Amino acid sequence: MATMRLHTDNRTIDAPDEIANLLGGEGLVYRHWDVSKLGEGLRDNYVLTEAEKAEILAAFGAEVDALKAEGGYVAADVVVLSEQTPDLDTLLEKFKCEHHHSEDEVRFVVDGHGVFTVRGRRGRDIELTVGPGDLITVPAGTRHWFTLAEDRRIKCIRLFQDPTGWAAIYDERPDHGPSRCA
Ligand SMILES: [Fe+2]
Repeated sequence: MATMRLHTDNRTIDAPDEIANLLGGEGLVYRHWDVSKLGEGLRDNYVLTEAEKAEILAAFGAEVDALKAEGGYVAADVVVLSEQTPDLDTLLEKFKCEHHHSEDEVRFVVDGHGVFTVRGRRGRDIELTVGPGDLITVPAGTRHWFTLAEDRRIKCIRLFQDPTGWAAIYDERPDHGPSRCA
């Protein structure tokens, strides 16, 4: 279950409704889906075959299809980060730099944990630690960065509005002040 920290007043929130409301006010979507229907063999496995990835997508087919219709997403895949990922630390160095995308960043956490930090609308940084069952959508253009949690592993379903155009944009924007890692 997610935990949210507001850096401006150092407040930690763990009530799902309050997290969803506060993130909603920032244009983000937060929901919680039931991951218990997925067998532990697929949840704990961090070296997935293509067939196993397809099995995970099929298990959440109804939820993913509803989200596609809602947000105009056209594609979905499964992404895994763990100690078995080649060059994990190099990837994390990139992810921890502030950036945005030209489309929404949509992540449903099947297993593991991750920490998204988002530049809020009123100049506050919002840090969201997500875990199994948490769904987050970061709208296009919203500046954010990402890292893993202590378990250093995460398995997510991603949804895309345009899979050919997915890229991180690191350039600094005057309205957001100096970019981290710029
Ligand atoms: Fe991103």
